[in-house]
Formats: sequence, C-alpha cells, structure tokens
Amino acid sequence: MLSEVTAIRYVTPLREGGSLPGIVEADDLGTYVMKFTGAGQGRKTLVAEVICGRLGQRLGLRVPDLVTIQLDPVIGLGEPDQEVQELLKASGGLNLGMDYLPGSLGFDPLAYEMDPVEAGRVVWFDALINNVDRSWRNPNMLVWHGEPWLIDHGATMIWHHNWPGAQASAAKPYDASDHVLAPYGPDVAAAAAELAPRVTEGLLTEVAADVPDEWLVDEPGFDGPDAVRRAYVEALLPRAATIHERVTLGRRTERKAQPPGWLTEHATPWPHTTGGGAVRSEHQKDGGE
Ligand SMILES: Nc1ncnc2c1ncn2[C@@H]1O[C@H](COP(=O)(O)OP(=O)(O)OP(=O)(O)O)[C@@H](O)[C@H]1O
Ligand SMILES: [Mg+2]
Repeated sequence: MLSEVTAIRYVTPLREGGSLPGIVEADDLGTYVMKFTGAGQGRKTLVAEVICGRLGQRLGLRVPDLVTIQLDPVIGLGEPDQEVQELLKASGGLNLGMDYLPGSLGFDPLAYEMDPVEAGRVVWFDALINNVDRSWRNPNMLVWHGEPWLIDHGATMIWHHNWPGAQASAAKPYDASDHVLAPYGPDVAAAAAELAPRVTEGLLTEVAADVPDEWLVDEPGFDGPDAVRRAYVEALLPRAATIHERVTLGRRTERKAQPPGWLTEHATPWPHTTGGGAVRSEHQKDGGE
C-alpha cells in the first residue's frame, strides 16, 4: 500500500501539465505534485501512474516516490483561478501525490549524455507499459541532481480503456521511433535480458495491490477491485516476455547540438550549417514538424 498523507496547503498549479497537476504541502511536511481524481483524464490515469510508477521503481528505474493524498477541497478556497477551484472541488477524497523534485529541469536530449544500456532500460520499460508519452516533443523526464527521473505514466496501458480487447491490444508492437531516447541507440535486447525475468506474476501482483480500491470499484465487467488488479497482471505478464522483439526504433539519428537561431541569423554561418539559420536534428525533421 502507498503511504497516505493529507494536503494542508495548495501551493501553485503546474501549468505545463495538461491535467493541471498542482504542488501541495502535506501534513508529513512533504511537498508533492498532486494529480487529481477530478481531472478530465479520469481515475484510470491515476491507476496507470501507480502501477507503472511502482513497477519502474521495483525494476530499479528512477521514479519519484508515490503517496495517496487526502484532499479537503476547502484548502483551495483562497485560490483565485476558477479552473483550479473547480478541479479541487471535484477531487475531494483520495488523490495521487508524487514527490516533488525541487530544482529539477526538463530533460533535454541535446544536453544530456546517456549510454545505450541505460537508454535501453527506459525504452524497454516504456514498451512494456505501452507509454505513448515520452517523445522528443514531451519527454516526461526530469533531470535532478544530475540523474534522469521518469515522470507522468498516465498515458500508458491503452488496453485498460477496453478490457474485452485487452489481451489482443497488449500483444501489439511498440513504436519507439518518436521516443526521446531513440537517438541514443538504446540496447533494448540487453534491457529485456536484464529486466524481463524480474517482471514476475508476484511482482506485478504487488504493484497492482498498491492501487487504492476506490479507483478500481465499479469497473464494468469486473467483480470488484481484485479482479481488475488481476487483469492488469494478465496483460503485463506475457508482454514482458516478448515485447523487445516488437519494438520499432527507426533509424539511428544525430544528437549533435546546434547553435540557437539568434546566434546564427545575422552572423557568419555556423560550420555545420549549409545556410545561415539553425538546423534541426535529423530526428526532429523526421518527426514531421
Ligand atoms: N515530481 C515532480 N517534481 C518536479 N516537477 C514535476 C514533477 N512532476 C511533474 N513536474 C512538472 O510538472 C509538469 C507536468 O507534470 P506531468 O507531465 O506529470 O503532468 P500531466 O498533466 O500528466 O502532463 P501532460 O500534459 O504531459 O499529460 C512536468 O512537465 C514537470 O515540469
Ligand atoms: Mg507530462
């Protein structure tokens, strides 16, 4: 079970996040990024955060610690922003909290070096959970004290939106050509050899047990929260064994840093460019911007 804390102060919204997560202080003196049950994305996003976040941690990946946060919407009464007010009003009760990493920076693939083995672990993990939200457009990785941290696992396990088709959906390949770590030459096979044997039925059952009952009740077609937990285990377990064979990485691309436009616009062309302007990386061009 995740530890439970109570929110005592709403600090500020994080406007970069589509679900409008907020920073809150809790009664354990901790500061958390809070993801709200009342957000438009729904409670399945929170279930995905717990299962994938805990699974990542158990596999040795850096994911900030998770807690559940009791919210009394009254703490937002002084909040001037109506959108935030509405969100807090709709989210009384249990919400998700993630340890806030103060001073962290968004991951920049042009500024960060990572070896193919480490990149392979992250890509393999994202393939397992079918994460469609770690692209170069939106890396959902932070750099904190010099190390990369994985955040935002809400857009994963697409199969939980349609349980009758879950087995077929979980058997599908993973397209990693847009993945923020694709240009690092990730060694997905090495990661699978290391990590797949650790994704056992026992481990998956334990991480599914961390999801609070109230986010699993009333799931159509299931006979209570434990049956839903079982469905997550049954989708992930076979996928762990073979997904590395079905990862598409695309062509390996250059990650060489390019000069910013303001430096080159009116100046002598930079040695790597053919014209005067900044040149985007091959990877970005491929992305069809
Ligand atoms: N644990 C954390 N510590 C520090 N900052 C964080 C943390 N988690 C999230 N953030 C910041 O808040 C932003 C939004 O968080 P997150 O991506 O989890 O929200 P989201 O609503 O799911 O976003 P998205 O629009 O990507 O779906 C992040 O891009 C990051 O800048
Ligand atoms: Mg995000």
